[in-house]
Formats: sequence, structure tokens, C-alpha cells
Amino acid sequence: MTVLTGRRVLLAVSGGIAAYKAADLTSKLVQAGVRLDVLLTAGAEQFLRPLTFEALTRRPVHTNLWEPWTEDSAGHVSLAADIDALIVAPATANVIARLALGLSDDLLGAVNLSTVAPLIIVPAMEHHMFHHPATQGHLGTLRERGATIVGPEQGRLASGAMGDGRMAAIESIVGALRQVLGRQATGPLAGRHIVVSAGGTQEPIDPVRGITNRSSGRMGYAIAQAAIDRGARVTLIAAPGERRPPFGADVVRITTAADLHAAVEAAVDDAAVLVMAAAVADFRPVGTAPAKIKKDRDDTVLNVALEPTTDILATIDRPGLLKVGFAAETERLVEHATGKLRRKGLGLIVANDAVQTIGAETSTATLIDRDGLAEELPTMTKEELAVRVLDRVEAILRSADEAGR
Ligand code: CTP
Repeated sequence: MTVLTGRRVLLAVSGGIAAYKAADLTSKLVQAGVRLDVLLTAGAEQFLRPLTFEALTRRPVHTNLWEPWTEDSAGHVSLAADIDALIVAPATANVIARLALGLSDDLLGAVNLSTVAPLIIVPAMEHHMFHHPATQGHLGTLRERGATIVGPEQGRLASGAMGDGRMAAIESIVGALRQVLGRQATGPLAGRHIVVSAGGTQEPIDPVRGITNRSSGRMGYAIAQAAIDRGARVTLIAAPGERRPPFGADVVRITTAADLHAAVEAAVDDAAVLVMAAAVADFRPVGTAPAKIKKDRDDTVLNVALEPTTDILATIDRPGLLKVGFAAETERLVEHATGKLRRKGLGLIVANDAVQTIGAETSTATLIDRDGLAEELPTMTKEELAVRVLDRVEAILRSADEAGR
């Protein structure tokens, strides 16, 4: 179950060469549990047949504004009323102009004017068409009205030229949908600011070497995504890694524990929650060698002096900030984690086995709160664990809100 499960979405495909990618997008959305309707413009029908989308969605595909109204369906009016979000992907320059102007002489135009559902526009076209002041003006109009514009990306275009205009990656489009649907959430995280740290810090020894750990960042990224799904404003403070950040997160890139400390200080100012999922170096080299350290034939040992870093979670203190920590342990899990919760003034700690968890896809965690209550969870993916952690965060926020009322 995610924010996508059972939600009603209309995907409008318009007539650009990127239309072929809309079939993949359709498949991904259906697999994610979206109840997806597809609309093809006349231009899209030049590239693809309705059958492709009918087979993928097992639902009729919409192409015609002039379909007769029946007892069950008032054509575009029913279609427009029956959706939680409208995605236009790919959106050609022509369709963007038509949507901005409010033209309604085709089915997409009529649905666009009739719906109150949020609009996601995924432009795809040639570089100069995208940068033309007319297109930019229309995109500006749509953005001002609250539409989310996803992409385009840079790269090789259909003409063979390089430039801006490639349709955004499927992951970005699905991410934008999650953000838009998340904004419809009404839980305690909706509209609140949450700061999440992720990944393993790197402490330089010399210009090419450093001390780091096996953290993949997956847990922190999953928490960031799950918070966006609940309508939170998310700052993701990310240690080096290749992972694609969730769509809609404000990303701050850091390398060292000291960078992370400064970034967390700056970000928590108006935050309700801080989740420290990052694996922070506890020690760093005393000073960084200015040049690469060379091997000396006579060396049998290289000594690198280390000094402790600041404990960020223990140091950050702002009234009303709910602090959530992770405890990676190799022995006496609950006892050590409870000690950390108390020492660092946390509202919740996620305790797990350091060796099994770091760098892995799954986690077997125990959630411990301020009352010392330990909830042992079964092994699950880090995405599933993120949902469980935020369920607990929302429960804590809810009772704090009630107590403050
Ligand atoms: N943490 C932090 N700053 C540090 C070290 C850790 O904010 N310098 C945070 C981690 O992000 C995590 C929690 O503190 O949320 C616990 O981290 P962990 O490595 O399990 O514990 P430590 O406090 O470092 O203690 P130890 O290494 O002795 O187990």
C-alpha cells in the first residue's frame, strides 16, 4: 500500500514522438495500484492505437469529445469529476498552449476546464520549441495556476540534436504524482516540515582517500518519500551516492559529518521532525593531508590520528522538535538503543542489527519510544519500514497536538 494505491488518475497522452514512453508509464502506474484511465489526443493516435492502453489498463480508452452521454456517464464532465489527478505526458508545445489558453474543442481541453483535480504537465519537444517565449509563457501560466511541471530533461532529442526537451524519467513522473496526491493528505505531517538525513558521511584522509561506511542511503530516502506521500515538506540532507532523490524533496548535498551538522542546524529552524537516518562518522582524521600520501618502502604501519566528531542528534535542541534516531547495534539491541534515546533526547528510536542492516534492502527493526515501549517488527523492506516509522511519528505528533489544544 502506498499513496498511489486505489487512486484515480487520468493520463492524457498527446502527439509527440515521446508518446511511446506513455505505454511504459501506464504499465508502471497500473502495477503501483493506480486506477488509471487513458485519454489519447488526435495527435497521439497518429503514434499509438487505443488497444495498447486498453490492454495495459483493462479499461476503455477515451478519445472522443462527442461520445453520446448515457445514464451512467456525462462524457467529459464525468471523466473530470472522477479523478484525483490529471497527468499530461508527453505534453507537446501545442497541448501546453491549448491548456494554458483554456481551449476546449477536444476531449483533453474540455476535461482540463471541467476538473478540479491537480494537473501534472510533462513537456517533451525539440529544444527551440521548449525555449520559445510562447511555450515558456504558457508553462509559466500553468505553473501560476498550480500545475506541477516535470522536466524536460537534457540529452539526445528525436532530431538527433542534443538539447532540452526529453520527456522526464518515469520515476520523476510517478514521484510528481506521489507529491500531488500527498498534498491531499490530512494527517499530522501534512504541511509540516521534516528534515531527513541519509547515507554514509565521508571523512577525507588526503585528496583521494577517506573514511566512510557501507550505508546505501536507502532508509533515509525511503523516509523522505514516505513523508512526501503524507504531504510533508521534506528537506533531504544526503551524503554522497547515486540514488535518485524523491521528487519534491529539497536536497542538500553534504560530504563530512561537519557539513551534515551545519546543514541540519540550518534546516531544522522551522521543522517539526528530524529523522537522522544517516550513518555519521564518529571519528575523523585530525587534519587532511594536502597531497596524496605516498607509500614509503620502509613503512610497515601508517598511523592516521582520529578525533571524535560532534554527535549531531544529541547536540541539536529546539523546543517542539521531535527527534527520531537510528541505532545500529551488534549486541544488547534494546538496552543500547534505549540508552541512546535517553542520552540524545529522542521521541523515537529505530533499533536494528548493524551488520544485517547497513547496505541491505531489508531491515529487522525494533521501534522504541520515550515510554520505553519496544515494538519488534518483522523483517521488511526499508520502504515498508519507513511507513511504519512515520505511522509512529504521526501518532506522537497527534498526541502532542491534542495535548497542546
Ligand atoms: N548520530 C549523529 N551524530 C553522530 C553520530 C550519530 O547524529 N556523530 C546519529 C545517527 O544518525 C543515529 C544515531 O545518532 O540516528 C545513533 O547512531 P549510532 O551510530 O547507532 O550510535 P552512536 O551514537 O554513534 O553510538 P555508538 O557508535 O557508540 O553505538
